[in-house]
Amino acid sequence: MFCPMSFDLVLFGGTGDLAWRKLMPALFQAFRHGSLPAGGRIIGVARDDLSDAQYRALIQSRFKAVEGAKRPSAEEFEKFADLLHYLRMDLSKPADYERLAQTLQQRDADTVVMYLATAPSLFTQTVERIAAAGLGGPKTRVVLEKPLGHDLASNRAINAAVGRVLKEEQVFRIDHYLGKPSVQNLFAMRFGNALFEPLWRREYIASIEITIAEDLGVEKRGAFYDQTGALRDMVQNHALQLLCAVAMEPPINAHADALRDEKLKVLRSLKPWTHESIGMHAVRGQYTAGTAYGERVQGYLQEPGIDPASRTETFVALRAEIANWRWAGVPFYIRTGKRLASRDARIEVNFKPTPHAIFRAPAGASANKLVINLQPKDGLELHLLAQAQNSRKRSGDGTQPLATVQLDLDFGQRFGTERVGAYERLLLDVIDGRLNLFVRSDEQEEAWRWVEPLIEAWQNDSGPRPYAAGTWGPSASSAMIARDGLAWSEEQ
Ligand code: BG6
Repeated sequence: MFCPMSFDLVLFGGTGDLAWRKLMPALFQAFRHGSLPAGGRIIGVARDDLSDAQYRALIQSRFKAVEGAKRPSAEEFEKFADLLHYLRMDLSKPADYERLAQTLQQRDADTVVMYLATAPSLFTQTVERIAAAGLGGPKTRVVLEKPLGHDLASNRAINAAVGRVLKEEQVFRIDHYLGKPSVQNLFAMRFGNALFEPLWRREYIASIEITIAEDLGVEKRGAFYDQTGALRDMVQNHALQLLCAVAMEPPINAHADALRDEKLKVLRSLKPWTHESIGMHAVRGQYTAGTAYGERVQGYLQEPGIDPASRTETFVALRAEIANWRWAGVPFYIRTGKRLASRDARIEVNFKPTPHAIFRAPAGASANKLVINLQPKDGLELHLLAQAQNSRKRSGDGTQPLATVQLDLDFGQRFGTERVGAYERLLLDVIDGRLNLFVRSDEQEEAWRWVEPLIEAWQNDSGPRPYAAGTWGPSASSAMIARDGLAWSEEQ
């Protein structure tokens, strides 16, 4: 790894949604923490006709939406703004890349990061033009936002085009879930401690549940979302990366390819879909009007930018299986959706009960489970059974019934709230050239291969099932897991 003294970060889509919601706040935090190399420029690129001063004012106005301590003071913003520059570009025009080349030559920074926060349909053309303008040399790193393509063929086409002009180690395919502190801690828990490894297998684990629930609707991204849907937006990438993190074998070391090789093996071991398993183990839904934050909210079809006859799913629940020695027969339930009952992302590892019960345990819930909380809380919970010392109840045989108690590790409390956020960590990793938390092309293709039968089947079925905003999705999702004699965690 090489730590640069100076960098230019070119942000294609510099006035877009991602830039101001995630990237600018993350860059500001990195700047505030002194983590950005001193000699740096952030060059916003978009089609609008803006001067540097106007771009700085635009970014400053957007920071007003940032809450609490993360919002910069006027003084702090002024210092940060020195890094911000703007270049108007039409990404289809080669001449505009020549102007970008001139801008970059003024500085000749150690590292040039090209962050493509644009529509994926522009990736191939942009990367090809970057290379044609002589900007694809070894000090260039290109960041590609998800979703990369809309199916396996388009993903392969993008990866092939990128591969013709850049080396794989120059390509940073971002999945910001891998940058979340709790995902780092999942790796640390699994591979830094020997405690769980002997239990981390089919003999001791009954099932694993991965939930990424959002309470927000599609907000201002209707047009994008309607073309994308929850399967492509969340399952193909974030949910499958979480599944890999929880199911992968211990890598031989912490280097990028060692990690990525093991994740790839998990994706390759996912049991392929069949006509029958899609019918039984895949549910999709679309939200209708309901409530969020105690207020009435409209349904998906009434949101701005949505085709009123849209069949796009805003909810997906799946039952997956990993066909290898460690996991054969263990169901992995994956669930994600918009406008669900709360913002809640977690992985629950449900352990099997004792082989022979001498105590009375509470009915329903798995006796022992490990919960990896991703958000809004960030930490680990270990659920155990204990004797309720204050209970005077006795069973017929004189023993006290057991109650569930939990060991609760809250990383926010333990390490403070000033921890490095996902995008901040990942942006710093790109600048430093660390690929560990980025997705390799073969991983991505394998994930597309696995979801593709669902995409095809859903084109011709009766459409997504409705669920009211503010609930946990369509009843078919509960019915799917109930067929295994189980219930989603909030139903237990
Ligand atoms: C993005 C999706 O990748 O992740 C969005 O495109 C989603 O639709 C977002 O809202 C969720 O990220 P987070 O970090 O807020 O859980």
